[in-house]
Amino acid sequence: MGLERTFAILKPETVERRLIGEVVKRIEEAGFKVLALKLVWASREQAEKLYEVHLGKPFYPELINHITSGPIVPMVLEAENAVEKLRTFIGATDPAKAEPGTIRRDLGLSITKNAIHAADSHESYEREHKIFFATEEILNY
Ligand code: CMP
Repeated sequence: MGLERTFAILKPETVERRLIGEVVKRIEEAGFKVLALKLVWASREQAEKLYEVHLGKPFYPELINHITSGPIVPMVLEAENAVEKLRTFIGATDPAKAEPGTIRRDLGLSITKNAIHAADSHESYEREHKIFFATEEILNY
């Protein structure tokens, strides 16, 4: 596969519960390198872009309300096979169904408040990270 980038967001409940360090520690220890990271309060426009594929679904309004309810931490991460590796590492969407030891199982509260969002493909990475980061904010090192 080679080195790949992915995009993740620590959701408002993770920031509110002061779990930024805990989650970033787990991600770094799993072998991901942080290339960009910031604390930001997403606008409705950013939220609608992020979740545009879910427009029209029953949970869409709750999703938008939640992700704009407080500060979040978007980040760009690099690792071998990063997209798939991070998805596996964070666990299933529903924390109750996620594997023991995963971020969502250990720290998620509900399907909506599932601690962290991660891009589900390289195309999603490309689209999603640009909603929050300018090219020069992603550091190559
Ligand atoms: P996330 O990875 O941020 O991507 C879409 C989000 O929709 C997902 O995590 C969940 O938080 C949220 N969601 C809420 N309800 C559902 C549902 N019934 N099925 C899938 N996702 C849901």
